[in-house]
Amino acid sequence: MQHLVDSNDFSDKQIADLLHDAKKFKTQRPIQLLRDKLLITLFFEASTRTRSSFEVAAKRLGASVVHLDPSRSSAKKGESLEDTFSNLCAMDPDGVIIRHKENGTPRLLADMQMTSVINAGAGNYAHPTQALLDLFTLVEHFDGDIQGKTIAIVGDILSSRVASSAIRLFTRMGLNVLLVAPKPFMPESTLPKYDKLEDVLDKVDIIMSLRVQLERHKTELFKDYDDYAKQYCITRERLKDRDILVLHPGPVMRNIDICDAMLDDPRCKVLTQVKNGVYMRMAILKLLLLDSNT
Ligand code: CP
Repeated sequence: MQHLVDSNDFSDKQIADLLHDAKKFKTQRPIQLLRDKLLITLFFEASTRTRSSFEVAAKRLGASVVHLDPSRSSAKKGESLEDTFSNLCAMDPDGVIIRHKENGTPRLLADMQMTSVINAGAGNYAHPTQALLDLFTLVEHFDGDIQGKTIAIVGDILSSRVASSAIRLFTRMGLNVLLVAPKPFMPESTLPKYDKLEDVLDKVDIIMSLRVQLERHKTELFKDYDDYAKQYCITRERLKDRDILVLHPGPVMRNIDICDAMLDDPRCKVLTQVKNGVYMRMAILKLLLLDSNT
């Protein structure tokens, strides 16, 4: 039984296979490879993209999906997370896709070895399927030539599970990663750190902008997010005609993370990331539910 808690659960060969399968699924109508499989989604935090993308991916491959809404489950009556999970596993799903505010939850459930656990975002620690779909988007855009490319991750890096997973996966894949953030949003890291966006614009091939995660802040770090935007919002005026790819995992806070005009600019790949997310998640489900069991 294989789990996906973070991308380091996958070997280099498995990541290469995922990229190959995602590309294949994007270009060919997929066959119903998972038609006898059942997945359960269990999202303790809100989601637009990840939950629906997993559901679309599973259904495109013929799998069935059941969603348990924790806000209407017996968790509300005091049932523990482990008991909720064990009871779902008693129904013999082939995998549980979980999002949770605690960093350690996916590993805790995976270690129970009851079904394949797929991390759909945990705390500020890991969002591996986002990192993998972003890797696919980069490989597709640069036609495989990503070694040595430089990416700046910009914004609320400290709170971001997308950034944590991206840093681990992108450095492993040979990209140079720079961190750009105001001091309160900067994590401990040996990577190059900048507090001014202007200082990296001539060094980078890619910018990954991140949402300011107000819900994870215990204190108000900025009085005024317009002030934050003046320094860190990705705008056409800032990028000028530089050939820089702009990514964002979503949800985008318009005109704080990325301005309206930049979201319509062909250099901005936000919706391509969402589209690619379905194909990468199809590849991930195939790997976990089919390939790793043979
Ligand atoms: N990128 C991402 O995780 O989006 P959702 O929170 O909408 O799933």
